[in-house]
Amino acid sequence: KELHIIGVPSDLGQGRRGVDMGPSAIRYAGLSGRLEGLGYHVRDLGNINVPTPEMTKAADHKSLRYLPEVTKVCTDLFGMVNKVVKDGHLPIILGGDHSIAIGSVAAMANQDQTYGVIWFDAHGDMNTEETTPTGNIHGMPLAVSLGYGHPDLVNIGGFQPKIKSGNVVLVGIRSIDEDEAKLMKQAGVKAYTMAEIDKRGMAAVMAEAIQIATDGTDGVHLSLDLDALDPTFAPGVGTPVNGGVTYREGHLAMEMLAASGAVVSVDVVEVNPILDKQNQTAVMAVELLQSLFGKTVM
Ligand code: ARG
Ligand code: MN
Ligand code: MN
Ligand code: MN
Repeated sequence: KELHIIGVPSDLGQGRRGVDMGPSAIRYAGLSGRLEGLGYHVRDLGNINVPTPEMTKAADHKSLRYLPEVTKVCTDLFGMVNKVVKDGHLPIILGGDHSIAIGSVAAMANQDQTYGVIWFDAHGDMNTEETTPTGNIHGMPLAVSLGYGHPDLVNIGGFQPKIKSGNVVLVGIRSIDEDEAKLMKQAGVKAYTMAEIDKRGMAAVMAEAIQIATDGTDGVHLSLDLDALDPTFAPGVGTPVNGGVTYREGHLAMEMLAASGAVVSVDVVEVNPILDKQNQTAVMAVELLQSLFGKTVM
């Protein structure tokens, strides 16, 4: 199995510029070479074509900013990831803001196999047009994947919902909007807050998370939002929240996923080099991916 890298330089799903440079920053941090160093055959397929905000009639739709553009980008990504997986390879999708996961999750859901989802994030990403406080689509991709939201987004790939809530797990959350919390409860998504990680430890939480995501499925899609990490370790994100996952907890989580052998696809999103300190967040992303793909001390 080869690792195929796809960049999605989108900043349309959120409010702060610079996250469109995430794929470059992660490549610059040495992603391909590091993964090759672990013995993989790595192929970089380049970037999906994404319009800049200047090319579009900005934010016409206040509660769903850049809806047509985000829909197009996610539809293109759906096609590309779909092909990578059908060809037998493992896709690594580099964002870009988290709205792009609408396309990657859709592609994984389109396979003959069924997959669980682990959503590593400070946020729930369970908003809809009705509940969003910002209108930013990066706060909505998990809701969309579960079938809640604007039909243009929910129907990408021509079917819905993409995933069953029983196999979806959030890890690291600490910032949920009021009405978003209601939908999370209604949808029945298992969510591990930072408080629970503090109390029970990352090892216990990840063991359960992997259990839930692999129960009756053929593998796991990991959607890795770098803002899950504490801003000390990942300052280069658009929506940082204090009190996050530590460096070691992050690696432990990735190491446990590696040991499970269950991961079949990965998003790495929200890295914003403009807000970063010397590309620290992209380096963090690359190091986490090394652990995820089996790096050990000896
Ligand atoms: N809940 C907030 C919103 O809806 C923040 C979402 C942040 N999402 C992310 N993928 N970083 O705008
Ligand atoms: Mn190939
Ligand atoms: Mn987030
Ligand atoms: Mn997110």
